[in-house]
Formats: sequence, structure tokens, C-alpha cells
Amino acid sequence: MTDTQPIPFARPWITDEDRQAVLDVLNGYILTHGPQCKSFEQEFAEFMGGGHCVSVSSCMAALHLSYLHFGIGPGDEVIVPAQTHVATVHAVEWVGATPVFVDCDARTGNLTASAIETALTPKTKAISVVHFAGIPCDMPPIVDLAQRYNLRIIEDCAIALGARHQERHVGLFGDAGCFSFYPVKHMTTGEGGMFVSRHPDVSQAVAKLRAFGVDRTHSERTVPGMYDVPSLGLNYRMSEIQAALGRSQLRRMSVVLAQRALQFDRYRTLIGHLPNLRLVDTGDAESRSSHYCASVVFEGEYANMRNQMVERLNAAGIGTSIYYPQPVPRMNYYRNKYGFVAGRYPRAEHISDHSVALPLGMHVAEGDVDRIVATLERSLAESTRGKGLTR
Ligand SMILES: Cc1ncc(COP(=O)(O)O)c(C=O)c1O
Repeated sequence: MTDTQPIPFARPWITDEDRQAVLDVLNGYILTHGPQCKSFEQEFAEFMGGGHCVSVSSCMAALHLSYLHFGIGPGDEVIVPAQTHVATVHAVEWVGATPVFVDCDARTGNLTASAIETALTPKTKAISVVHFAGIPCDMPPIVDLAQRYNLRIIEDCAIALGARHQERHVGLFGDAGCFSFYPVKHMTTGEGGMFVSRHPDVSQAVAKLRAFGVDRTHSERTVPGMYDVPSLGLNYRMSEIQAALGRSQLRRMSVVLAQRALQFDRYRTLIGHLPNLRLVDTGDAESRSSHYCASVVFEGEYANMRNQMVERLNAAGIGTSIYYPQPVPRMNYYRNKYGFVAGRYPRAEHISDHSVALPLGMHVAEGDVDRIVATLERSLAESTRGKGLTR
């Protein structure tokens, strides 16, 4: 890779095997309700090392189904991180429950049990944790807290496929785990997601809820076209085309995770010795991150240089993103509904306003991380020169 070749923030890794898998489905006649989704669900559970999986149309769908299934609704409160994607919170809103925002830990960007506990009220019914940037939350104390207060845990694992805490895959600590296969994620099905639960009865019920609430799948129908509908449901199904792509992608996940881990280590080495730059990173040795992105927080005298650095990096052909662009309570919908006071979620606000997410993944070639960090260093030096800022 040359010094001028663009490095996008993220790019799906599509191989000939992926194309063939999709083509095989198109060359057949079963485009939905078929064996690909069933196999994808089984293989995903094998990859995680447990759980009962239900393929769905997106992570947001999996989150929505979780709250619907557990009967969480008006009058109930759900603890949510201020630092997350809106989908985490929209799912709570759609069932009519009230999100209660909690600030994150500065180092990991994750919720902690102690912060959650301060926000509990008699109305709290569930905790939604997000494994930020692929870094697993410290789950044992959160599980302990949920047991003490009889709360559900919904894990938003949208950007944490492959992340483990004490060797257990995220999504298998709480009552439900929700994954995303949106194109910039570790693997993709175009759009798509997976609902996971440790409890087979929960997954069976969610599978029905995902498909109109009908009482039997196509393969369970003795008379074609004959079924009943004992409950309300939605259509949040995944197609066979998507599942075939997902199965093919899943087979390469160990390669993807290993490559991301190596690249993240390189970021750690290069950024670790630079003053006023901090990589959002795991908080303990028992956590294995899935290294979704390298989020760099500008601190101290660099604190206000984020936007300028984004411009510089982009101009040099280096793609960036921001995780997440605003704490959710500051987004207009939530600000208008619940009000927002600046400084209320200082750590989430700090990450949103002062960080940039740098590329990781199969499209990042050898030497690219060095080029990215060198460009950042050079840009910081050029921008601070003449302003009296020193390093
Ligand atoms: C934490 C989190 N949750 C949920 C989502 C939504 O995922 P999907 O697009 O599959 O609904 C995202 C998307 O980036 C996310 O980052």
C-alpha cells in the first residue's frame, strides 16, 4: 500500500466464497424460511460457545424484540448508557418505557455496576449494557446487581462480536444479547442481526414474535399454509440470502479478530507514548476486546483539536468516524423529550466531543496503522506550531 492510497474507516470483506454462497441461494428457490437461517443460528451459537440464536433483520430489531418479550413497557424504567448508538435507546422508547441515562467509565466507555446502582429506582425493570467499541463491560458485578434487584439485562453487542469477559462471550451474561451485521461491523449480511439468549424458551418465544406471532414455522406445518396466530408479532426475519452471506463470513471470524487485535496492539504501541492522546481500551486483563475501532481521545491541550484532526486525516485519505457523535440524551429527540443539562454525563460528553475513531479491519494493510498515527502526529505538530502549544 502506498502513502497516498485511501484507507476507509471500514469496508466489508467480501470474498468469492461469499459471492458463491449468495449465488447458490439465488440459484435455488428458497429465499426465506429456509435452511440457511437455521444453520446460521446454530453456527453462530457454536461460535459464541453457547446460547440459542434467532436471526433477525437488524440489531435494533433484536433489541425491540427483547423488550417486547420481557413485557417491559409504560411505567417501567430501563437503565441505558448515555454513550451509545440511538438504537439502544430507541428500542426502549418504542415499547413506551422510560430510558434512564447513566454516564460511562472514562477509560473503557462502558457502564459500571456502581454507576448503574446510583440510578436504580423502584420502577427500574432492566439494564441495557453496551460493550463500547468492542470492549466487554465488567459483567459479573452487573449480573450480581441485576440479581439483587430482580432486573433483566439486555446486552447490546452490536459492535462486540468476538468480545469475551473471563472467556464467556458477551451476550451470554444477561437475559438477551443483540448483534448487528451492518456493513461496517466485524461481519456483515448487508443489514441483519442476531438475537441470543441462554434460555431456550426465551429464544423460542422471540422466534415467534419475529415472525408475525404465528404458531408454527413452514417446516412444522403438516398442511401447507395452515397455521394459527395466538399472539401479536412483527416481521423482523432475516432472508436466506443474508444468512448464506453471514454463514460464509462467520467462518472467517477468527482471522478477522486476530488481524484486528494485531492492529490495535500497534495503535497501543504508537499512541501509548504520545502525550495528550488516549486510546479507549479494556480496563482489565480478563477482558478480550473485539477491537471494533481505535477510538482516540484528545486530552489536555489537544482537547479541542478533534475536528481539525478529522479534516486533516480525511484530507490525507484516512477515513474516520466518531463513536458516538453525541451522547444520546443530547440528541434532539431525547433532549426535547427529557431535557438535557450540559455536564450531566461528563465522561460520555468528553468521548463524544473529543475523540476520533480510526480504522481497523481486513482492509487495513501492513504499515497502514503506522501511516495513520504518523499523519496524526504530524498534523498535531503542524496545528499546534505557532499557537504556543507544546508537546
Ligand atoms: C451499540 C449499537 N447498537 C445498535 C446498533 C444498531 O445496529 P443495526 O443497524 O443492526 O440495527 C448500532 C449500530 O452501529 C450500535 O453501534
